[in-house]
Amino acid sequence: MEKLIITGPTPLKGEVKISGAKNAAVAILPATLLIDGICTIDNLPNISDVKISCNILESLGAKITRNNENSITIDTTNISSTFAPLDMTSKFRASYYLIGSLLSRCKHAQVGMPGGCKLGARPIDQHIKGFEALGATVDISSGKITASADDLIGTSIYMDIVSVGATINVMLASVLAKGTTIIENAAKEPHIVDVANFLNTMGADIRGAGTDVIKINGVEKLPGNSTYSVVPDQIEAGTFMLACVASRGDLLIKKCISKHLEPVTAKIVEMGANVEDIDGENIHVWCDARPTNVNIKTLPYPGFPTDLQPQMGVVLSTANGTSIINESIWESRFQYTAELNKMGAKITAQGKSAFFEGVEKLSAAPVYATDLRAGAALIIAGIIAEGQTEVYNLEHIDRGYENIEEKFRKLGAKIERVEE
Ligand code: EPU
Repeated sequence: MEKLIITGPTPLKGEVKISGAKNAAVAILPATLLIDGICTIDNLPNISDVKISCNILESLGAKITRNNENSITIDTTNISSTFAPLDMTSKFRASYYLIGSLLSRCKHAQVGMPGGCKLGARPIDQHIKGFEALGATVDISSGKITASADDLIGTSIYMDIVSVGATINVMLASVLAKGTTIIENAAKEPHIVDVANFLNTMGADIRGAGTDVIKINGVEKLPGNSTYSVVPDQIEAGTFMLACVASRGDLLIKKCISKHLEPVTAKIVEMGANVEDIDGENIHVWCDARPTNVNIKTLPYPGFPTDLQPQMGVVLSTANGTSIINESIWESRFQYTAELNKMGAKITAQGKSAFFEGVEKLSAAPVYATDLRAGAALIIAGIIAEGQTEVYNLEHIDRGYENIEEKFRKLGAKIERVEE
């Protein structure tokens, strides 16, 4: 078993380059199943969720050439299977995108139940509602989701809940459907726009992604034969911005999209730290004094992202005064607070709210990542705590952050990965 050993406190200083977005990449890879041909994807993050996605695509008949660490060429001309087994799909959440993609391309999909971070109940009723509205029959039994259709016919679908996964999945299912599909009350996250841009580059006709109404005019086939570069990871960039504030550091965050980070920027400024948007793609963040308390409510984009809530929790655990976080997306996203309390934080989590009584400093302790973003938060906590923190359960962190300890080490953090 591997663990990270972090010796703190260290103010982070320097430059960090942001990788491609995990949540866009894990949707774009299954979306390649819609292409009757070849495509190249650049700026792919080198993370375990991407590796598993590629393994699944290969098991379905795709031919993948690895151009370098962050680029692959995929030939999906011959898809020979529509079955993705549970032992592969249960390793990550985004395996549910195989249903929309295979259904669209082959009119049949049999996909093991998805896994991913344990953040509470993660129903997929809105995905199923969308597939059924397009004319598919969906059955869940024996740990598998089976979807099939004679024909998929475009229609109007109103999402009862704003869901990233359901919006993308229904978009995937309707790209090759007959006629026009309209998704209302769609999610607006940057990775939804990125998946639509990818599909349009490959020959789809999708309009309105990034607004709450997406219109998909079905096309006969996606010829591909193009190259696409994955959007920078909004959550990775936000993680470094918050690590900078927590550590009272000074960072240049390179190759991100500052527009996507507005909800985080607003809160950082409210806390008394500084953010300078240099040119829309590079952000300078610095913090000279103890941040002041702020209240946060997580919301779908463009609200404050739930995927930055634990990292913000670390900042608030040492802010001046008491802060409240209200988590409105996931039932169980405060598991990290018990770990932070082992480090001297004073956090009371009750249901969907947590109260952070800011302490002057954290102290090192052995801590366990309960999920991906909790893991990132614990690394930040280790960087600002006095002494030697040990972070366990690194498999969660490796699912979504490329070279995380190397990136933090270049910023001055004393962090190493060791085998127990
Ligand atoms: N929901 C339903 N029914 C559905 C779908 C969702 O009730 O059919 C509910 C969920 O239970 C949740 C809310 O709707 O309360 C939003 O869920 P959403 O579908 O938007 O989440 P997701 O697609 O499962 C993606 C990201 C998560 C991120 C959320 C919210 C991927 C692979 N995952 O999950 O990312 O937290 O959107 O932004 O894109 C992470 O990266 O650490 C992560 C957990």
